[in-house]
Amino acid sequence: TRVFVPCDTTALAMGADEVVERLEAEVRVRGLEVEVIRNGSRGLAWLEPLVEVETSAGRVAYGPVDADDVGELLDAGLLEGTSEHPLAQGLTEEIPWLARQQRLTFSRVGITDPLSLDDYRTHGGFRGLEAALAREPQAIVDEVKASGLRGRGGAAFPTGIKWQTVLDASGDRDQKYIVCNADEGDSGTFADRLVMECDPYMLIEGMAIAGLAVGATQGYIYLRSEYPLAHRILDEAIARAEAAGYLGGDLCGSGRRFDLEVRLGAGAYICGEETSLLDSLEGKRGMVRAKPPLPAIEGLFGQPTVVNNVLSLAAIPFILDQGGQAYADYGMGRSRGTLPLQLAGNVKRGGLIELAFGISLRELMEDFGAGTFSGRPLRAVQVGGPLGAYLPESQWDTPLDYEAFAEVGAVLGHGGVVMFDDSVDMAEQARFSMEFCTVESCGKCTPCRIGSVRGVEVIDRIRANQDRDANLELLGELCETMVDGSLCAMGGMTPFPVQSVIKHFPEDLQR
Ligand code: NAI
Ligand code: SF4
Repeated sequence: TRVFVPCDTTALAMGADEVVERLEAEVRVRGLEVEVIRNGSRGLAWLEPLVEVETSAGRVAYGPVDADDVGELLDAGLLEGTSEHPLAQGLTEEIPWLARQQRLTFSRVGITDPLSLDDYRTHGGFRGLEAALAREPQAIVDEVKASGLRGRGGAAFPTGIKWQTVLDASGDRDQKYIVCNADEGDSGTFADRLVMECDPYMLIEGMAIAGLAVGATQGYIYLRSEYPLAHRILDEAIARAEAAGYLGGDLCGSGRRFDLEVRLGAGAYICGEETSLLDSLEGKRGMVRAKPPLPAIEGLFGQPTVVNNVLSLAAIPFILDQGGQAYADYGMGRSRGTLPLQLAGNVKRGGLIELAFGISLRELMEDFGAGTFSGRPLRAVQVGGPLGAYLPESQWDTPLDYEAFAEVGAVLGHGGVVMFDDSVDMAEQARFSMEFCTVESCGKCTPCRIGSVRGVEVIDRIRANQDRDANLELLGELCETMVDGSLCAMGGMTPFPVQSVIKHFPEDLQR
């Protein structure tokens, strides 16, 4: 019997290794034939460690399993896929939380052994790369344009147009680069990590396709140092892909070249901003560069560079394999395809939810999240990381769509959704936004470097009831100055959460 126990960081934090240890010990004592496979996580964080057993009807799930549950589960008939146990969840694919999703990018995640090339190929892996190898660069770029894919790092710039700029940047530029932004720093986000830990070949394939599309032979994954497991898995996956001819000097026997390396960051949020990321990759301190020139024209070491988020690159194999139209068939308005959402914070059922654009925030939080973990009423939700607005209940029917969010003064960002119950102090949250900026600012421009420090002070005065009206007005002006005068999104977006508190939760500033 094959038993699957996830090996990603979340499952490990929840005790997956202890479950495996106990399972193997019990199996030995009982003289049972069991093969334990360490798969990736299905993304149902609330059920981790999610143990699955292969049966003739499909995989049957149990979770969240503690090491102490293992003996009892075996007694109850775990290996036969029993439904007679409180932890039994039925067929994994039929768990409504999973069955309702539209998994294009995450279709393999949690099903396969992350490092098994055989698993990857059996589940459609490398078909996109093969399709790309049979095409001219312009045809690859056109396919990505047809998909309507927009940058999943947060800015939502059309990926195909970015690639076109790099493809067209020629002349004396003999080296171009593909840089993957894996400095996933937004609060409550973990989709990039799941891709890297649970389906690393998908990212490798996406980057190799990007290389073929724009004529780049070297790629770098800029990975945050807080992801040590992703680092180990990526290094191993790159070595195996190279040995099997999916990277290196002879891609799938085509004679085409693409090399890939991982570079580690050192824990600075600003290094997720593309130009400071490039500085950091070049071995310098991560400081934001003025744009233009765009990285697409003068990026890494001054050469034309594609900088894409993990999720953007991970969407590429599907697009090349199934066609851009198959991807564009999902979504609403100008937001095409799917968005891997990450539901976190004070939530009962958190995890990775991949859905076509268009579902409302309320459906996401109620149908999937099942409300707050504390059981108290939900009060606010922050979407798009620490620089995203807090949305009050009146905005929860907003569809998850870049334009619809912009209309209510919010951002979708990287798809991080952090929920708060009614015990939250929104004035404290507003202060935190400014404080975060004081810590993470690169220091290059005044509105951000100094404005954020003043922002903390002004909010402290408001909270201490000193000259409240004048200070509220000052805070509003300070926010405008930061939005208008900052060089990058760090200082330019820090006011968003603050302004949303002033507008939607003013009572908390009056206490
Ligand atoms: P941006 O709007 O300046 O640029 C978006 C991308 O398009 C960049 O890669 C830029 O170089 C490229 N671009 C723009 N015009 C182009 C052209 N004509 N040709 C080719 N490429 C072109 O936004 P920025 O500053 O890169 O990102 C800000 C976003 O980052 C925010 O919206 C925020 O949501 C997100 N963010 C994400 C985080 C994460 O952890 N994923 C953390 C913090 C912020
Ligand atoms: Fe640096 Fe802040 Fe200016 Fe961005 S806005 S360049 S992080 S000082």
